[in-house]
Amino acid sequence: MLSTIRSIALYGIDGYLVNVEVDIHSGLPSWEIVGLPDVSVRESKERVRAAIKNSQFDILSRKVVINLAPAHIKKEGPSFDLPIAIGILNDLEYIHSNQLGDYVFIGELSLDGNVNKINGVLPMCIEAYRLGIKKVIVPYANRLEAGVVKGLQVYPIKSLTEAVSFLNGTKKIAPFVTDVDHLFTDNSIENVDFCDVKGQENVKRAMEVAAAGAHNCLMIGSPGSGKTMLAKRIPTILPALTFEEALEITKIHSIAGILPEDKPLVIKRPFRSPHHTTTAMALTGGGKIPRPGEMSLAHYGILFLDELPEFGRYVLEVMRGPLEDGKISLSRVNGACTYPCNFMFVASMNPCPCGYAGDAKKVCTCTPFQRENYLKKISGPMLDRIDIQVNVPSVEYQKLESQESVESSVTIRERVNKARKIQQERYKNLKIFSNSELTAPMLQEFCVLDSDAKKILESVFEKFGLSARAHARILKVARTIADLDDSANIRVEHVAEAVQYRLLDRKF
Ligand SMILES: Nc1ncnc2c1ncn2[C@@H]1O[C@H](COP(=O)(O)OP(=O)(O)O)[C@@H](O)[C@H]1O
Ligand SMILES: [Mg+2]
Ligand SMILES: [Zn+2]
Repeated sequence: MLSTIRSIALYGIDGYLVNVEVDIHSGLPSWEIVGLPDVSVRESKERVRAAIKNSQFDILSRKVVINLAPAHIKKEGPSFDLPIAIGILNDLEYIHSNQLGDYVFIGELSLDGNVNKINGVLPMCIEAYRLGIKKVIVPYANRLEAGVVKGLQVYPIKSLTEAVSFLNGTKKIAPFVTDVDHLFTDNSIENVDFCDVKGQENVKRAMEVAAAGAHNCLMIGSPGSGKTMLAKRIPTILPALTFEEALEITKIHSIAGILPEDKPLVIKRPFRSPHHTTTAMALTGGGKIPRPGEMSLAHYGILFLDELPEFGRYVLEVMRGPLEDGKISLSRVNGACTYPCNFMFVASMNPCPCGYAGDAKKVCTCTPFQRENYLKKISGPMLDRIDIQVNVPSVEYQKLESQESVESSVTIRERVNKARKIQQERYKNLKIFSNSELTAPMLQEFCVLDSDAKKILESVFEKFGLSARAHARILKVARTIADLDDSANIRVEHVAEAVQYRLLDRKF
């Protein structure tokens, strides 16, 4: 007999339909699986065989042939255990249902026959729905995530035995639904806020500009000046996520297996802050069963590299392409798969090895040579991708103690939202959303300076010997500052402020 059971596999962040065909004959006992990579075949075979046996079903000695179609794409991961087992049990007539074709089956089996949680259930269910499939059987532990997909009947199961009883109609299971609207509107209060940061008006303003134009930024300052504290608060002034953005982030987090079981939808912009000992692969993603890396986990949020010069050169190198493209390609057995990684890049660094160059109170003990070498650790091309570089001075004691009220993130976010709306409107016919994405020809069209502003920029260039790169960065940032000011033209004051945010250009 031949059974065909439907399942879904992952490619990048999207699912695709897989037909699990099971054929059982009497004959010399053997198991053959086609359409999986070697290692997965071996593992899956052992798990399925043990799970069936330990669920008290009798397989006897048969010749079992399993094909996962389309066969030309090698499928990774353990999610085919359940459909394979269901196919076998159907062939052996343990299942009496003429509706198997209505379902998609997803799940890993443990040796005792329980169904284990797997990664990537959300994108799999989204694909099932897209294909017009109405019913999915998923591991019980993945039910909340699967239940996010509206219009899909989600049947959570805990064991192979339970799945069989359900299909045979001897056990009732109600379709599981997750209350998405409730989850999404649950604006539970952020645990950090810009009003926690005393003083630092200039830096906060720079963060506001960065958030308003989606500009990458670098903070330079002595230890304890508040760089990490400031960075952590940037997500609180970025525009709230749209539902589509939330869903896309959740897909990535689901595939990475970092979605908390009780929070099946990511509703806040991610803030990822990998340690400087991180590997290139942890940033890019990859591996035997491909997983998204830190850059993709930061999608639509912030990737923060604290103490930037401590990161390995190679690690910074692999970030360059993705920073530009907003996506990352990983080579796989079956060609490349792509993960999105459209994040805002934020970094921090000390001004020198000892940390106190330019500090108001402490004296720097480094030689000029050491200082220069330290700054050189960040390559030009890396700096080239950072629009805003700002100095973070140490805060005076009086400021820290002061009780005067400070602006909260909500107020700043309102201004950011307004500036973003202006950009969306301006770029609605182009494929960009923010000033940070402006290309050279677009700069000419959208960043026109009035004559006074032009003069100022010229004199700044002469005085500091700025590069052509710096020129483009200044124009983009000046555009954002003008947008925050609701000004169609870029005026002198906008340019003058943008120049302030080229700290390292001025130093060199
Ligand atoms: N402007 C500030 N307002 C309030 N607290 C501050 C401020 N700057 C620094 N701090 C305090 O100092 C601590 C150290 O700051 P941190 O962000 O770790 O500095 P850095 O990353 O620059 O070394 C913070 O956790 C915070 O408690
Ligand atoms: Mg720090
Ligand atoms: Zn120093």
